[in-house]
Amino acid sequence: MNIRTVGVVGAGTMGNGIAHVFARGGYNVILCDVEQRFLDRALGTIAKNLEREVAKNKITAADKDSALGRIQAVTDRGKLAGCDFVVEAATEKFEIKTEIFRDLDRLTRPEIILASNTSSISITKLAALTKRPERVIGMHFFNPVPVMKLVEVIRGLATSQETFETVRDLSVKLEKTPVEVNDAPGFVSNRVLMPLLNEAMYAVMEGVATAEAVDDVFKLGMAHPMGPLTLADFIGLDVCLDIMRVLHGGLGDPKYRPCPLLIKMVDAGWMGRKSGRGFYKY
Ligand code: 3HC
Repeated sequence: MNIRTVGVVGAGTMGNGIAHVFARGGYNVILCDVEQRFLDRALGTIAKNLEREVAKNKITAADKDSALGRIQAVTDRGKLAGCDFVVEAATEKFEIKTEIFRDLDRLTRPEIILASNTSSISITKLAALTKRPERVIGMHFFNPVPVMKLVEVIRGLATSQETFETVRDLSVKLEKTPVEVNDAPGFVSNRVLMPLLNEAMYAVMEGVATAEAVDDVFKLGMAHPMGPLTLADFIGLDVCLDIMRVLHGGLGDPKYRPCPLLIKMVDAGWMGRKSGRGFYKY
């Protein structure tokens, strides 16, 4: 199918980045969230990030304006009915995604693919909520979406080869590099990354080192662009906790137990960079 109009559900950190790369890639984008203020904030972020690319001579000012002109921001999910492809990038909670997938299945044409940007939730389970499980797939982008090259393309148990190939080719059209993985809690990226971040939190909690020292070890000793605690703040501590809970529940191994300090910080409303406080103050 010729994909021209792409729906993006959720205008948070990942949703606005996904809308950005599709619009920059020439697709019409319908960006949907529950409140206008989330959409306004997302459009402001996209404009700012496109401007960065203009400043770096990656795109022209005219490219920026036309990309912004291709994004329609809506609060009414019904407006997604005409889309040729939809990516869901809502909060990392199964109940929220359940409601969205059921709705998308009802609202959109049965032949279109419904993708999820979930960080860890089972694609097989999301697919089973719909009448088109062979056309449900994981399309997992990385933050900051306009910069990071990877798209983890996750096959659910029922995902068809045609769906996989469409999403793989679409990722290449967005100038990303798709990597194929099968459905399992956290896929590859978060199954390996999150226990590292969680362990770094244990090291801080147990007084092994300060957050700064842990980050220095990884920046200077392993050439990571960000240390694990800076990265956890960047991803969002609430998101890290949600993913650890999916790993712990889904794999059933105590080694995935979320760090008590992480739980406490999320309880305190310290979500990392987005809330102004996490392992660091912003
Ligand atoms: N939009 C567009 N461009 C952006 C951007 C954005 N939001 N953020 C940064 N950039 C560009 C900058 O303009 C710059 O471009 P240039 O290379 O042409 O000069 C480049 O990215 C680097 O940015 P900066 O020079 O401002 O800053 P840094 O060199 O410190 O890099 C970083 C910032 C790219 C975020 C880097 O620190 C990094 O790679 N960090 C690790 C990020 C990471 O691991 N992400 C994955 C998180 S896991 C995830 O998302 C999965 C989920 O499921 C949890």
